[in-house]
Amino acid sequence: MNYLCPSILAADFWELGRQVELVEKAGAPYLHIDVMDGMFVPSISFGMPVLRCVRNRSNLFMDVHMMVAKPERYIEELIQLGADSITIHVEACDCIPETLANIKALGAETGIAVNPETPISAVLPYMDMVDMVLVMTVRPGFGGQEYIIECINKIKEMRRIINQSYPNVKLEIDGGVTLGNLEMNLAAGANVIVTGSAIFKGDIEANVREFLKRM
Ligand code: DX5
Ligand code: ZN
Repeated sequence: MNYLCPSILAADFWELGRQVELVEKAGAPYLHIDVMDGMFVPSISFGMPVLRCVRNRSNLFMDVHMMVAKPERYIEELIQLGADSITIHVEACDCIPETLANIKALGAETGIAVNPETPISAVLPYMDMVDMVLVMTVRPGFGGQEYIIECINKIKEMRRIINQSYPNVKLEIDGGVTLGNLEMNLAAGANVIVTGSAIFKGDIEANVREFLKRM
């Protein structure tokens, strides 16, 4: 099963509600919520108030990507606000097992993310505790960047490991995904496809439908 996961980082925030409605109406199952703190990544995006607004008005599965140092500080609040899945970065947390266990105990799904320069081996100790691995295909921090082609080998490697030993773990990719490289990423084994700028431009509904058709 493949899941399309539009990232609202690329939305027009003047029209956020309407744009999320379009994505939902077109049949996307997930919504990707990029929380950035200006510390772990250079930029600041948005946080709890936006999550709360989206949750109050939308039933989409909220996939929260925490590009935040010490994400363990925010788990309770995120889940209270309705996060369905929380992904923390392996580079950003000193207490990963405890944090993943906390996410699970509070009823959300768990994810662990790796930056392009971090090897896959960094997440292997946590595979038993996660519902999803996120292989970043750009350096986190900004939407609209170009896909880093070397990451395709990490996706393949991760898919091999998942198939061998953790068949229920989802494999998410994030950054620079377009209709042009979608097929290559699916073939490499990604099954949760985050995409921001390729969705939130022009006819949003048509963009979602086109991605879904090819997945
Ligand atoms: C990047 C974010 C991504 C971003 C993807 O740091 O984690 O989720 O929104 O945007 P595009 O698809 O434009 O690369
Ligand atoms: Zn993201």
